[in-house]
Amino acid sequence: MNSKIKKILSKKNKKKIICLTAYSKSFAEVTDKYADITLVGDSLGSVLYNYDTTKKVTLTQMIEHSKSVRKGIKTSLMVVDMPYNTYRNKKEALINAKKIIKSTKCDAVKMEGGAKIKDITQHLIKNKIPLMGHLGLLPQTAGKFRFQGKNKSEKNKLLKEAKLLESLGVFSMILECVETSTAKEITKSIKIPTIGIGSSVYCDGQVLVTDDLLGLNETNIRFVKKFANIKSAIKNGLKKFKKEVTNKNYPSKKYSY
Ligand code: KIV
Repeated sequence: MNSKIKKILSKKNKKKIICLTAYSKSFAEVTDKYADITLVGDSLGSVLYNYDTTKKVTLTQMIEHSKSVRKGIKTSLMVVDMPYNTYRNKKEALINAKKIIKSTKCDAVKMEGGAKIKDITQHLIKNKIPLMGHLGLLPQTAGKFRFQGKNKSEKNKLLKEAKLLESLGVFSMILECVETSTAKEITKSIKIPTIGIGSSVYCDGQVLVTDDLLGLNETNIRFVKKFANIKSAIKNGLKKFKKEVTNKNYPSKKYSY
């Protein structure tokens, strides 16, 4: 097993796991300093390309952004999302997972789903593909964006699926928009780490879209807390540039040949 994955597993019940998204080298250089896991999420579809759904994200886009991210990573575990329609059957999933890993040199890939993709998950793991799971709200296939595990039957289904993924051999799983007591019970019931997004403090780790938490991507999603306002820092810099160019202060001699 990859030593970075071992390190993630060793944090369960000891230290919180930090996961951050990155879609380019410049962001990855920074996330790498703070995150245990850098995730090239297919959320890049909405954040960078303004798509209304992650269904539109292609394998080529994921690979090209991941190649850039790879250049910025030194220590964190790099996980890449398998985009929609790239793991519809065992053969397709294995070809594409291998392609992602070979061309981006990432440490692992992530797929959304539980029981529905049981055979595919099993097949990838049998073929030594390091895999992260993703349960709860599944943006690639969700009809409505609402929180998961709110009643007993949803709760039991999620718990069963989390145990299933663990038994198949995923090394960790994202829990997205999972109701607090459900996330708590899942986290308590399995030995691999859960990484929550909108799934309460009880998960073993937390992930947010970096652009969201920095205030670069504006969103009104309830679980997103804005930890910085990067947009206003950018605006200030650009305003100064505009002013100096307009006043002919830039480029001064120092910046000229
Ligand atoms: O696509 C993504 O960035 C994700 C995380 C938000 C969990 O899957």
